Amino acid sequence: MSSSNKKIDDYKRIEFLRNEINKHNILYYVYDNPVIDDHAYDALMKELIALESKYPDSVNSYSPTQRVGGSPVSYFKNIKHSIPMLSLNNAFNIKEVESFDQRMMKYIDQYKFDSNINKYFCELKLDGLAINIRYINGILEYASTRGNGLIGEDVTSNIRTIKSIPLKLSGTPPKILEVRGEVIMEYNDFHKLNQYQISIGNKPFVNTRNATAGTIRNFDPNITYQRSLKFFAYGCGLIENNDKFYVSSVDDQCNLLNWLSSFGIPVNVKYSSYANTIDELINFHKKAYDLRRNLPYAIDGVVYKINSLELQNKIGFSSRAPKFSIAHKFLAEEAITKLWKIEFQISRTGIVTPVAKLEPIFVGGVNISSATLHNENEIIRKDIKIGDFVIVRRAGDVIPEVVGPVLNLRNKVEDFHMLNFCPICKSKIVKFTGENVYRCTGKLFCKAQLVQQLLHASSRNALNIVGLGEKIISQLVNKNIVKSITDIFNLSLENLIQLDRVSNKLAEKILLSIKKSKNTSLNKLLFALGIEHIGEHISKELSKKFNNLDDIISAKEEELLSVNCIGKVAKESILTFFSIPENIKIVKELEKNGVVISKISNKILKNSIFKDKIIVLTGKIENLSRVEVENIVNNLGGRVNNSISKNTSYLIYGNNYGEKFYKADQLGIKKIYYKDFLKMI
Ligand code: IVH
Repeated sequence: MSSSNKKIDDYKRIEFLRNEINKHNILYYVYDNPVIDDHAYDALMKELIALESKYPDSVNSYSPTQRVGGSPVSYFKNIKHSIPMLSLNNAFNIKEVESFDQRMMKYIDQYKFDSNINKYFCELKLDGLAINIRYINGILEYASTRGNGLIGEDVTSNIRTIKSIPLKLSGTPPKILEVRGEVIMEYNDFHKLNQYQISIGNKPFVNTRNATAGTIRNFDPNITYQRSLKFFAYGCGLIENNDKFYVSSVDDQCNLLNWLSSFGIPVNVKYSSYANTIDELINFHKKAYDLRRNLPYAIDGVVYKINSLELQNKIGFSSRAPKFSIAHKFLAEEAITKLWKIEFQISRTGIVTPVAKLEPIFVGGVNISSATLHNENEIIRKDIKIGDFVIVRRAGDVIPEVVGPVLNLRNKVEDFHMLNFCPICKSKIVKFTGENVYRCTGKLFCKAQLVQQLLHASSRNALNIVGLGEKIISQLVNKNIVKSITDIFNLSLENLIQLDRVSNKLAEKILLSIKKSKNTSLNKLLFALGIEHIGEHISKELSKKFNNLDDIISAKEEELLSVNCIGKVAKESILTFFSIPENIKIVKELEKNGVVISKISNKILKNSIFKDKIIVLTGKIENLSRVEVENIVNNLGGRVNNSISKNTSYLIYGNNYGEKFYKADQLGIKKIYYKDFLKMI
């Protein structure tokens, strides 16, 4: 075969492979009906990649090989929406749905519409991030977030990585087609992501919505690609040839979704339904509520839409939301379960908190077996007794709470009594005057308080000792290996490997981290001491004023009061803490064990471009917490403020930055990308 014939054949094969891969994507993502397995799919992809690398000229922007490309960006460009991206009005109860229905009936009368068939179309309300995707002649042109509704961010390179979003539409779509819908993350991908986040020392995402938003607003498309997002369309933005579009068979919301799916765009018609009466709407809501726990992704309610597109247009929009549609949200998830007993948790500062031990129950997507009862007053106010059946609520992703007892189910119950003595150290439990809480008076002789104090001291914003979790610290304390923070610095490999679940490797990692943590800053050390009322902020203010711990220990009342943010309570707390010989001993022993405070030299300070500058931060700065960045800026003679104003010197921005980024532009403030900042320091 001549080489030109071979080339023609290869080009044909490339075209065939692209169509084939697109076809299988659609079967998988739109019709939920894959006909080949992953292995066969990967083989097609591999062959296409090989052929494309042989003929680089054949590669185009919509080849399935071109989903991840391009390097990370440092910010997202703005995109003005051709048609605003609005929000939805909410209904939280049946009454609000009824008044929506009455409003719609009035419009139906006013426009003399036939109201008896398919008045409404009901859809699931997916809990993710709204996206507008523009196709021109069937090719994905760009994609943007909702932003402020008028202007969004250009997240095209991230959206292209989502396999369920076609890069090229099938069929014959209009010249310009803007598809609007929700990007979501499924629970299993969310859990995987969070496990990974935790393993690298990052905070886990609180829910799938935040994880989705964080992923779409990440500057590196390779990361977005790895996180397997999904997409479902629920409507359109701009469509060129609007008139032609309406005279076609696409005349209602359901047809519209089917029409979109005919181009290979995933829609959620499977779980959608027509409705005519208020009862049918409420019934849909109930069914969706039950369906919720079996879905692989989060929904936070349902959406009722007038079905006819013509009527939708006549009813129109307010500036915020369409008037023909409403979101009927789910209420906080509640369930009834038995309260078996009330146990007590002792905090770092000795506060005794009653905790309900419950018959395990599945609420809000998770199993719950305990919930805080806050304090004695709360238990009395809610009339909760041991043995009651109680309503447990877990709204969204917040900590579960006991709402109150179901009095009709009350049978044999016992009154709750606050303890007089600590269950751990047997010290007296007292309620100090002016406080609403009970405290164990055992201080650090109480092993429960000691464990919490050690956890606090090892935490990321204090001494940052990696690997020392509650389980390990509890064992060290209970075996009397560690009696105070100073003992941490004397731990040996033998001490650690004798503990449950501590391998040689983990023990070595902990020891290395302990060694590193000895080199710390004054504010971190102060914070680590766990002095009551002395949080991170005050520790920082103190470290600006004083050079070392000795100066703080010997500081006079007036000196302490002259420090920013320090009032009577904090001052008193510092004086009391350092008046206790045991605490002074701990500080001295820390020094003896090689804990040193590093201060940036004056020379660097003098040359620093941050000297006397006011810095504002936005977005995520890789590997550094906000506090760590603040420390760096402080050490370089600058100050970090929370809000941006004309007095701000620089804005340091990282991934997923917020409003401040745009405000800096408006105010003409110099922006520094975090990677450049890291280079500068
Ligand atoms: S229609 C004018 N349908 O909910 C906005 N929205 O709370 C048109 N959402 O911004 C929205 N599922 O991101 C519509 N089936 C659905 C939806 C849905 C989720 C989101 C959407 C919107 C937000 C409003």
